[in-house]
Amino acid sequence: MKQTPTGLFLTFEGIDGSGKSTQCKRLAETLRLAGYDVVLTREPGGSEGAEEIRRMVLEGDPDKWSAETEILLFTAARRDHLERTILPALAAGKVVICDRFADSTRMYQGLSRGDLRTTVDQLHTLMIGREPDLTLLIDMDPATGLSRAKGRQGTEERFEDFGLGLQEKMRAGFLSLAEEFSTRFRVVDGAQDIDTVAADVLRHTKLALASRTGASQE
Ligand code: ADP
Ligand code: TYD
Repeated sequence: MKQTPTGLFLTFEGIDGSGKSTQCKRLAETLRLAGYDVVLTREPGGSEGAEEIRRMVLEGDPDKWSAETEILLFTAARRDHLERTILPALAAGKVVICDRFADSTRMYQGLSRGDLRTTVDQLHTLMIGREPDLTLLIDMDPATGLSRAKGRQGTEERFEDFGLGLQEKMRAGFLSLAEEFSTRFRVVDGAQDIDTVAADVLRHTKLALASRTGASQE
């Protein structure tokens, strides 16, 4: 009897500055050292076309796009990313670690400027139709998150420029999303030091990996 690994689709979610990118990289390194074939990717982006859309949505004035237009742009980017990067990697049995995915659209476009959650979900069903196997929500205080995010001083600040009020709404929204999709969500306390957060993340990931490993008769 031989263990046949199957692909695992893992996403990180949380407010800006919560430590997602840091933890994605840490987890990818740890899993690679353990012998897993890992694809580390992010949204918006993760494929050539989606990275082009990333520049359009993350740079410039906060009022540049309406929430409805953003839903279309983020979904277009996600479709390209899914077709070209995520699905081929999963089919090859790899572990895909993605920094944000559809839950971010459910929150940022679905909640930030009016209730557009139904529109987000409809478009998701039509064009994406895939949820992660495991979603790690890094939960943390919005003021700390925002000061960490602002500390990075990049040009991709369109969403951070919506301010603290939006971050507070997003934190509460992510926590209720974790209850709504409780089977695949795990909440990690992002206020802990980086190593402790990484240990929590690894514990949840190992459980998911163990439950995804199929056994074949050979
Ligand atoms: P995100 O991807 O969620 O926006 P990052 O991983 O880019 O967050 O982290 C934002 C900033 O906070 C970075 O400068 C990072 O080094 C720092 N950081 C990340 N995790 C922690 C932590 N647990 N404690 C303190 N600082 C952290
Ligand atoms: P990201 O680069 O992950 O920012 P951060 O590291 O600060 O968390 O994402 C950039 C921004 O894009 C972030 O503010 C959230 C926003 N976003 C959406 O509004 N909708 C989406 O579907 C995604 C994937 C991201």
